[in-house]
Amino acid sequence: MADKPRLTTTAGAPYVSNDTTQTAGARGPVLLQDYQLIEKLAHQNRERIPERVVHAKGWGAQGTFRVTHDITKYTCAKVFRPGTETEVLSRWSTVAGESGAADAERDVRGFSLKFYTEDGNWDMVGNNTPVFFVRDSYKFPDFIRTQKRHPKTNLRSPEAMFDFWAGQPESVHQVTILMSDRGIPVNPMRMNGYGSHTFSLWNEAGERTWVKFHFKTQQGHKHHTNEEAEALIGKTRESYQEDLFNAIDAGDFPKWTLFIQVMKEEDAAKQPFNPFDVTKVWPHGDFPLIEVGELEMNRNPENYFQMVENAAFSPSNIVPGIGFSPDKMLQGRIFAYADAHRYRLGTHYEALPANAAKNAEVQHYHKDGSMRFFTNDFGDPNAYYEPNQYDGPVAKPEVVEPPLRIDGDADRYVQEDKDADYVQPRALYELFSGEEKERLYANYAAAMGPCSPEVKERWYAVLERVHPDYAAGVRRANEQKDSDVNAVPITDDTPVEAAE
Ligand code: NDP
Ligand code: HEM
Repeated sequence: MADKPRLTTTAGAPYVSNDTTQTAGARGPVLLQDYQLIEKLAHQNRERIPERVVHAKGWGAQGTFRVTHDITKYTCAKVFRPGTETEVLSRWSTVAGESGAADAERDVRGFSLKFYTEDGNWDMVGNNTPVFFVRDSYKFPDFIRTQKRHPKTNLRSPEAMFDFWAGQPESVHQVTILMSDRGIPVNPMRMNGYGSHTFSLWNEAGERTWVKFHFKTQQGHKHHTNEEAEALIGKTRESYQEDLFNAIDAGDFPKWTLFIQVMKEEDAAKQPFNPFDVTKVWPHGDFPLIEVGELEMNRNPENYFQMVENAAFSPSNIVPGIGFSPDKMLQGRIFAYADAHRYRLGTHYEALPANAAKNAEVQHYHKDGSMRFFTNDFGDPNAYYEPNQYDGPVAKPEVVEPPLRIDGDADRYVQEDKDADYVQPRALYELFSGEEKERLYANYAAAMGPCSPEVKERWYAVLERVHPDYAAGVRRANEQKDSDVNAVPITDDTPVEAAE
């Protein structure tokens, strides 16, 4: 007993007992003065924080990003200097399920990376798909509502999902990926990650280049069929956490190769599609992949809550040499994430261990507030406003990104070309083998089964514009499933009306 550490209150006073309350007499009631008990119960009541409004279920790891190829002609970002190694925190997630959802569900996967660079943290908050369901931030809350529970049934609603998508044909690219083999990766190690949006890079000479980020799995793609996933979920709901944790624990570290695609600033206006629309990819044939470096995840966090639940990724976290683009969704996300973090984790979420810059000094004039547990007084308590006569921190104009020329009237612009949303999904559909197409149709039938005939017809009309075979295949799979369900076996016990 003597060599074990002592148990204390949160104020450091030793505990007398951790299993027997203080009572008035051997069989009497509990005394309010048993503060240890009150503290213990009160802390339990505060163990949970709000789960993320989306991407609530997740799996995390720590590791390193190493630059293997020189892209300094595009960017002055220190994280991309040849040979540089940067510590990284990752979190992968499903989008729609709550924090207790099964891992192997059909859904898009989040792919978040926090690079602790010398110039502060750079967050790449992407998905395992190169595109997204909608291209305007206005539509994101409605889209997410269709993925969550129905207000009356409290069940997820395929009717709502396909009703929304059918009214929003720009979704068909992402829905095609979701319903394809890639809709259920076997674990986070067997999928790619994409920045999805167009971002920008800028170099020492002040030249801007538009860029897309692609993290390609070195483990190879591997996916579950619906049937495999159902059987797996029957055995374990935590298959991703198990696979990831055990692989890293065994020294079998997953790796990804980072590639970029680049587009000259002036070439954006010449493309037949809007390169700032997150429902579109940049074709590889026109914008070939350029190798940059390798990401290796090689450490399991010592404490999941501290490093993964408390992780706050935000597309607003950029560093000199990396910038935004005019993508309307990206612009919405620049606001949304930090706001979500202040709500979910508190004012000073950036000072938590998962989020604190590890390789750059953090010096700002934000003051006080709830849970301000660090000084931030730069060694001189007089320097608490700006400008000041002391040696408080000052802005560095030399890290300014090159100016971006903007033309046009302030207005609300919709995509004029109504056919443009079907071109790239068609290219993807045509890439699929015959067997992949059959699985695509079957996955639709499983997902759309409960939808009304009206919603199904509206979705077939969208698919028809991608490719008539696509619409016909999904219709056939749905009708086949309907006839299977309606095929009531006739037995001696079957009432006459039902048999007729
Ligand atoms: P390519 O033939 O050069 O590339 C096809 C791409 O499709 C590859 O990146 C491949 O990924 C990916 N792919 C294969 N199966 C699936 C699937 N089930 N779900 C999602 N992606 C898949 O052609 P293009 O660049 O001209 O693009 C054609 C279509 O491919 C696009 O319209 C788009 O739908 C899709 N795509 C394109 C990407 C891009 O950045 N250009 C990225 C991903 C998809 P991998 O190499 O990892 O096997
Ligand atoms: C998480 C908003 C689009 C990827 C979140 C969170 C919010 C949010 C509020 C929860 C953050 C938290 O509590 O930690 C939005 C809005 C969008 C949008 C408003 C559109 C306007 C996208 C897109 C992608 C994406 C296009 C991918 C390309 C993610 C990921 C997470 C996330 C990966 C989980 C981050 C983590 O692991 O902690 N989003 N999102 N989101 N979002 Fe988005």
